[in-house]
Amino acid sequence: MTDAKLVARDLSVYYGSFQALASINLAIPSDAATAIIGHTNAGKSSFLRSLCRMNELWDGARTEGQVLLGGENIYGPGIDVTEVRRRVGLLARRPSPFPRSIYENVAYGPRLHGVKQRSTLDDIVKKSLKQVALWKEVKDRLQTSALMLSPGQKARLCIARALAVEPEVLLIDDPASSLDPISTAKIEDLILELKEDYTIVLATHDMQQAGRVSDYIAFLAEGSLVEFGSTSDIFARPKDRRTEDYITGRFN
Ligand SMILES: Nc1ncnc2c1ncn2[C@@H]1O[C@H](COP(=O)(O)OP(=O)(O)O)[C@@H](O)[C@H]1O
Ligand SMILES: [Mg+2]
Repeated sequence: MTDAKLVARDLSVYYGSFQALASINLAIPSDAATAIIGHTNAGKSSFLRSLCRMNELWDGARTEGQVLLGGENIYGPGIDVTEVRRRVGLLARRPSPFPRSIYENVAYGPRLHGVKQRSTLDDIVKKSLKQVALWKEVKDRLQTSALMLSPGQKARLCIARALAVEPEVLLIDDPASSLDPISTAKIEDLILELKEDYTIVLATHDMQQAGRVSDYIAFLAEGSLVEFGSTSDIFARPKDRRTEDYITGRFN
């Protein structure tokens, strides 16, 4: 295994008195795609949000334990949360662009982080849109509203928006749940490309999707980590009965 990019240590998440994640210990490898799989309500989204300090945006949400990013606890004292969210980008389950132009959606993050020069912003917008294979489709209408794009294009735009601030990790929450098969296939192709340069964590309820794009799989059930391994090992030799049932589709 390559080095771990993110390490969850005894990570628990509560919503009020309800415990959604129970003391997760998991090392997520660098420059690879790790799929977080499990049934609805297993805690996949909560886990992703806890890796970029987004859970705390909910009233009553509480996180315990540690998440080490490059060795540093993102829940530790003196941490710049804005910087954590730049380094660890999240693509939410139903990604929605801002009601602004295509250009402004991508330029927003870099501006927030202090990039002012127009030519630099132009370059970032172009590069980010190229990275998600959207440049050719939109280069002649960068000033039109992002809301005019198709759902699949919106999803890729939101990935471009995340890439524009040069993150190290990209968290992608269940892209298949809100997209048609063709758009989903494009996102999967993109994940295969991006995992060369970024650490990808993909939450998905779709085992086939996990098999197609991930190098590692973590299986969650009812807020606990059941098992973690390489994708080929998990498919060929699941250690836990619950994982086996899940991948053979017994409870799907
Ligand atoms: N903002 C929230 N407030 C209260 N409960 C939540 C919230 N988000 C998630 N939960 C609960 O936490 C559990 C895990 O949810 P979630 O992380 O969304 O799982 P998954 O993404 O695997 O479907 C579920 O029981 C869900 O109802
Ligand atoms: Mg979810």
